[in-house]
Amino acid sequence: MLRATELAHLLMRQAVKPGDRVVDATVGNGHDTLLLAELVGPQGRVFGFDIQYAAIASTAERVKGLAQVTLVHAGHETLEENLALHGDQKLAAVMFNLGYLPGASKDIITREQTTLAALEQALARLAIHGLVTLVLYPGHPGGDEEAAAVRTCAQTLSGDFAVNRHARINSSEPAPELLTIERLRA
Ligand SMILES: C[S@@+](CC[C@H](N)C(=O)[O-])C[C@H]1O[C@@H](n2cnc3c(N)ncnc32)[C@H](O)[C@@H]1O
Repeated sequence: MLRATELAHLLMRQAVKPGDRVVDATVGNGHDTLLLAELVGPQGRVFGFDIQYAAIASTAERVKGLAQVTLVHAGHETLEENLALHGDQKLAAVMFNLGYLPGASKDIITREQTTLAALEQALARLAIHGLVTLVLYPGHPGGDEEAAAVRTCAQTLSGDFAVNRHARINSSEPAPELLTIERLRA
């Protein structure tokens, strides 16, 4: 069975083209950043955000030599103010992988309020046919409320967006799930 993170990678391979501008909203250990950097190539740009210095350092090591990556040691809720420094170009894709940094403190997690603020900013910057992926983790303390808030936000988006939820519905445990949002029109 494909994991939510693997499915997000497959969809990104379809959505992102060389030269695109994209965001990894939660770089963590840099797996998503590396994929995005490879997809956009040297002519593109990946902006990666994380609040933990350990995550920024680990990602910097993983993408060493890939000059198309700009890492920002700040919360993704500062997405717009940071991207505005680089012009008003639209985004082809934004990846969110919520929760905590694997191997680090489980007390430092993404939070509903800042996740929703970042999502709103990401959607405002999203190009037509641009894609946002959100991997949600309802299984850890705080994760369930955050996942519910993200689902509610996605459900209330206008018809300018197509929202899809990929979740395991026959699991007794709260399983990670993937939510995707595509912009259909301006
Ligand atoms: C599940 S991990 C990301 C995994 C990562 N995408 C990878 O491929 O390894 C979640 C990350 O979100 C970060 N985080 C928490 N709050 C954040 C915020 N407000 N803005 C940006 N990153 C945040 C955590 O520090 C953690 O590194």
